[in-house]
Amino acid sequence: MKLTTYRTEGCLRGTRKPVRWLLVALCAVSVSSARAWGAEGHRLIAELAQKQLTLSATAEVDRLLGLEPGATMVSVSTWADEKRAPATAPLHYVNPPEGACDYDRQRDCRDGRCVVEAITAKVAILKSRASDAERLAALKWVIHLVGDVHQPLHVGLAHDKGGNLYQVRAFGRGSNLHAVWDSAMLKRLPYSAELVASAAAAVPAVSVRSDPAAWASESCALSRSADFYPEDRKVDAAYLARWDATLVRQLARAGMRLAATLNEALGSAPAARDKK
Ligand code: ADE
Ligand code: ZN
Ligand code: ZN
Repeated sequence: MKLTTYRTEGCLRGTRKPVRWLLVALCAVSVSSARAWGAEGHRLIAELAQKQLTLSATAEVDRLLGLEPGATMVSVSTWADEKRAPATAPLHYVNPPEGACDYDRQRDCRDGRCVVEAITAKVAILKSRASDAERLAALKWVIHLVGDVHQPLHVGLAHDKGGNLYQVRAFGRGSNLHAVWDSAMLKRLPYSAELVASAAAAVPAVSVRSDPAAWASESCALSRSADFYPEDRKVDAAYLARWDATLVRQLARAGMRLAATLNEALGSAPAARDKK
């Protein structure tokens, strides 16, 4: 990734220790444009994951990305949003019903068209003997969707479209809670021009097994916890202070788990993988 634009003002000033490492990581991410988990979130997750890949997973990721001139994990991380179409829109989220965060395929994703089943399906393609072109497309999906499933409101409620219909005033502007979690909060965190430190070491140990259903259940519980929806519909410094550590933790987990998923899918040499 070319590091072109940085925000240096206010870097790390006044931040709490647990979030500092990620703020450092944020510095390495170009801040030129914004889309959902905004582009910044997806790029950051891809960058964190890339640094945690095994040698053999790196070799296979690089070989597949090499089919597209200039492609990197960071550059392809937003591809699935850029080409978002009505047919694939449901693959970015899942909406378990009220009072039920234990993901249940029969109940929550009967047709298989939701973020949990999409991750599972794309990982299966990545592990398979499908063509390189198909496996490259699957890789791009996995890089993106493991990020999405860690955005708490991508495992939100159907009635408000995962917070898209919950209007809020965010830092003085009209917005909605989904957009706040996709990007507005992340943009508010201070950036630094320093490069990524070894981020994962500072994150409390979590299960990094590739288990999209468990990740979705976690996100679901977060977006339904007390105070997640601000009753006064105000997203301000106080809301950010309450939730910034959660935001940072979700990004960190997404990076670690994306790496674990790719290491598991691509960790063995191609010949061994083909025999599976
Ligand atoms: N984007 C569009 N609809 C959505 C939903 N129901 N949940 C989460 N994200 C969405
Ligand atoms: Zn989103
Ligand atoms: Zn998405």
